[in-house]
Amino acid sequence: MPTNGSTGRLIDLQGEDRERAVPAIRDGFEGIYRWHAKRTLRDIARVRAVDVDGEVVGVSMLELLVPEVGYVYYLAVRTQWRQHGIGARLLDDALVWFRGSGARVVYAAAEEHNTPSLALFRSRSFRLVDRAEAGWREGGLGAWGLRSRMRVVFGEVLLGLRLAPEPTAAADASRDSRQA
Ligand SMILES: CC(C)(COP(=O)(O)OP(=O)(O)OC[C@H]1O[C@@H](n2cnc3c(N)ncnc32)[C@H](O)[C@@H]1OP(=O)(O)O)[C@@H](O)C(=O)NCCC(=O)NCCS
Repeated sequence: MPTNGSTGRLIDLQGEDRERAVPAIRDGFEGIYRWHAKRTLRDIARVRAVDVDGEVVGVSMLELLVPEVGYVYYLAVRTQWRQHGIGARLLDDALVWFRGSGARVVYAAAEEHNTPSLALFRSRSFRLVDRAEAGWREGGLGAWGLRSRMRVVFGEVLLGLRLAPEPTAAADASRDSRQA
């Protein structure tokens, strides 16, 4: 039975072992999303899972779109295991990996009325990205040049989190503080 987010262990899923995540995908997505999530499961760079006694109860699919930008393609938790911290554990794990890989920005897409998904990303300080805002290379979170690689469709919003300042923004800030 579900207990809390520290139940089970975080593992990498590789090759045919990734099929073990299909029940979590079935629980998490319907229609075209389910089809696309299953396809992504087979193709994507990194798949992480929470394994409880041999059952995959949660899965994340992660990729670097460019070396500085991480993307959470999908994250899903089996229905009976939800609201026990497993999604947050997978997202924390994803952020550790993105940081360690040198990413400065991380994005995820969510349906605009998907309260659990929005709550999950917001709980880790992601915020909604305005279509018009300054691009990530300028220190904002605008996803200029990356949207074609993201799976953001009608009815979804883009969420973003900055992990590290842009090098130029950091240099400017340090110069400004020296001059102050
Ligand atoms: C979104 C999803 C992954 C969340 O997983 P989870 O294991 O239930 O999430 P957690 O228990 O770790 O909760 C993380 C945060 O979200 C909040 N949250 C989760 N479900 C919620 C709900 N139904 N209503 C309100 N808040 C919710 C939690 O309170 C927590 O916030 P807090 O730390 O501020 O308290 C899960 O609901 C799911 O698989 N949904 C279907 C697939 C999906 O929509 N994936 C996301 C887009 S790819």
